[in-house]
Amino acid sequence: MKQKKIFEKVKNSLMSGITARWVLSVFGPVFAVVVLFCIILCVFITNFYTATVRSKLRADAENTAQYFESFVYPEYRDFTTCAQLLVSDFNKKSMMEIQVSNLSGRIAFSSTGFAVTDLSVTPDVLSARDGVSSFWSGRLETTDEKIISFSAPLYNTESQVCGTVRVISSLENVDEMLLTIYVIIAVIGLLIISLTAFSGIFFIKSIVIPVRQINKIIQEIAKGNMNGGTLSHNSGDEIGQLCKNINLMASELSDSQKVKNDFISQISHELRTPITAIRGWSETMMADDSLNDISKRGVRIINSETERLSKMVEEMLDMSRIQSGRLTVSLSPCDLVAEFENTVFMMGERAKGENILISYDMSEDGCIVNCDKDRMKQVFFNIIDNAIKHSDAGSEISASTKRENSSIKFIIEDFGAGISKEDLPYIKEMFYKGSSQKRGSGIGLGVSDEIVRLHGGTLDIESELGIGTKVTVTLPVSEELQGDNTD
Ligand SMILES: Nc1ncnc2c1ncn2[C@@H]1O[C@H](COP(=O)(O)OP(=O)(O)OP(=O)(O)O)[C@@H](O)[C@H]1O
Ligand SMILES: [Mg+2]
Repeated sequence: MKQKKIFEKVKNSLMSGITARWVLSVFGPVFAVVVLFCIILCVFITNFYTATVRSKLRADAENTAQYFESFVYPEYRDFTTCAQLLVSDFNKKSMMEIQVSNLSGRIAFSSTGFAVTDLSVTPDVLSARDGVSSFWSGRLETTDEKIISFSAPLYNTESQVCGTVRVISSLENVDEMLLTIYVIIAVIGLLIISLTAFSGIFFIKSIVIPVRQINKIIQEIAKGNMNGGTLSHNSGDEIGQLCKNINLMASELSDSQKVKNDFISQISHELRTPITAIRGWSETMMADDSLNDISKRGVRIINSETERLSKMVEEMLDMSRIQSGRLTVSLSPCDLVAEFENTVFMMGERAKGENILISYDMSEDGCIVNCDKDRMKQVFFNIIDNAIKHSDAGSEISASTKRENSSIKFIIEDFGAGISKEDLPYIKEMFYKGSSQKRGSGIGLGVSDEIVRLHGGTLDIESELGIGTKVTVTLPVSEELQGDNTD
């Protein structure tokens, strides 16, 4: 299993992107050319040596036959004497063997001194007896040695074939030499391939590693994290310049994001005081019976809009905290199921005003979770607020909790507008509202997701357009806390 994983990892890293392209466009062709070149070289050298041995044998046999016809036979006229003379006069006996025999093969002499009966009659000898010179190569029956022989006819003074001369050379030495040459060629080929592979891997590493780093950092920048690290590739080449420029871009973006965050956080802080005052005064005025109906209605609108404004300002503050890494949670054990219940009932009252029913499944007992109570209530509030906003009057929202081995799930399901497949991957991003025309600034889910993440949990959204949305918040639960009832 482990080996399979390692193999998959190596395969993926080898066959991905630039590496795969290098294998296909550089290493592959070089490998093919080197292998082809080695094969062609081996074939060429084999042919060259074989041709050299053959031409030597042919020249020796034909010269001997010429010598026989022109000088030896005309002088002695006796085949036995002539054959003996040819064998003894042959000056390359140390390198090759010569055999001279008459047509029946009964009179035969060999430079190795074999008896007449030991001379083998091979196809080249038979064809020489018919007047045609030819080669033969094969193995000796006695020693199994690989040999090559050439036989030529011997003509008497009447131009009739009276015998044959056969010159034999061992191929063992040639084969050994060819094998050595093959090994040298293969080693040189392997060296070229290895050199190409190593230089290629080195070259690719010098590109792929910084490019992977660049990719990682750019992904972080795309997520809005400008402090995801700096690129340390300092070479003066194009990659080095690209790294330098990306570092520069990240620092510029980080500066401008800081300015933006500071601005949002400052404005939000500044807005808090007047909003609190407006809200306080509107509440006071709502209690004033001397106001006529129109004024009362106006004050109620002022109050609810100020509430909305206040929520927006708080969300914007949270967002700027998230982006500057300042959003923190202070964890302490509390019964989160009870807090969830409270939020559901509180929101249930609001939903009633819009003719929406929130049903709550009370089957789970309390559960002590190490969490930031207020922040988690904010998460539940955001999710239920979304569910109410996107449900039609008369529909129902269900809220429930589900305890699992080492976690607890808080589930809110509505049967309202739902979210399209295209919007679903992005709805947790800041300011993303998709195609929704409902009130809100598109920050709620982003903030909630970050809060849940800071608790070591997950916020999952399943939704289908026109059918509804199910949001599940999963938080880790420690068994040790379950005996503890501290709030
Ligand atoms: N239950 C839901 N049903 C349908 N769409 C939803 C639901 N919850 C979220 N969405 C979609 O996801 C988007 C993002 O939600 P989010 O809570 O982040 O922002 P918002 O509700 O528009 O504004 P805010 O919460 O900041 O007041 C919404 O605009 C909406 O398009
Ligand atoms: Mg919302």
